[in-house]
Amino acid sequence: MNFHVLTLFPEMIEQGVNTSITGRAINNGLLSINAVNIRDYAFNKHNSVDDYPYGGGAGMLMQAEPVYLAYEAVKEQIDKRKQEPQKHPLRVVYLSPQGDVFNQKMAEEMAQEEDLVLLCGHYEGIDERVLEEIVTDYVSIGDYVLTGGELPAMVMIDTISRLVPGVLHNDVSAEFESFQDNLLEYPQYTKPAVFEGKAVPEVLLSGHHANIRRWRLKESLRKTKQRRPDLLQHRVLSKEEEALLEEIAQEESTQSEEL
Ligand code: ADE
Repeated sequence: MNFHVLTLFPEMIEQGVNTSITGRAINNGLLSINAVNIRDYAFNKHNSVDDYPYGGGAGMLMQAEPVYLAYEAVKEQIDKRKQEPQKHPLRVVYLSPQGDVFNQKMAEEMAQEEDLVLLCGHYEGIDERVLEEIVTDYVSIGDYVLTGGELPAMVMIDTISRLVPGVLHNDVSAEFESFQDNLLEYPQYTKPAVFEGKAVPEVLLSGHHANIRRWRLKESLRKTKQRRPDLLQHRVLSKEEEALLEEIAQEESTQSEEL
């Protein structure tokens, strides 16, 4: 998969994704990161890419022209690689607190794209006309305001990348984990068997696979109930899961009686 990031701080993106799992996937050729400096497309002699907003108000706005030229350069490069202009519209994500809040489902869907363009704003935003012209998706990473779109772009790249086949060596681990089917992950333990007087749950040392599976499912349900009860509302529960939740509820009521 190819990520193209339109930004005023390409080195920030490059440094952020060139390490760890994404770095390895780039070296293996599974991912590519093309960080394009919007300033390279400044169209005036001062190399400036921002100006005052019409109508007054605080701060500066990124101008339409350099953003558009940077986008066109990327699009041309993609069309050239594919040897013809693409019928499928190029996906261009503008990172903004005004966007739809990013989640795992969006990541799964975007991981299907061969090319994804991420547009990072700075200052007080970008001239609306170029956004109308090129942006297909407005995405926020949460209800707070950052100084620019680079960190959100890196959050998206990281989340999407690990869903690209081969990026995680162990494909199973992308499948069975938090948010998959609205269930949080069960607790995990490694050596030593006793830490600060706390022993690893005995069932995990038993080698009894059916019991271990049941214990893990139960603890996933317990954790989801405690930390993200909203997720459970969206899960279609099996008979086994209903029974486990009933057990958990009984344990909770016994515990509260004991207090
Ligand atoms: N730019 C500034 N804040 C942001 C946010 N929360 N999500 C995405 N882009 C942003």
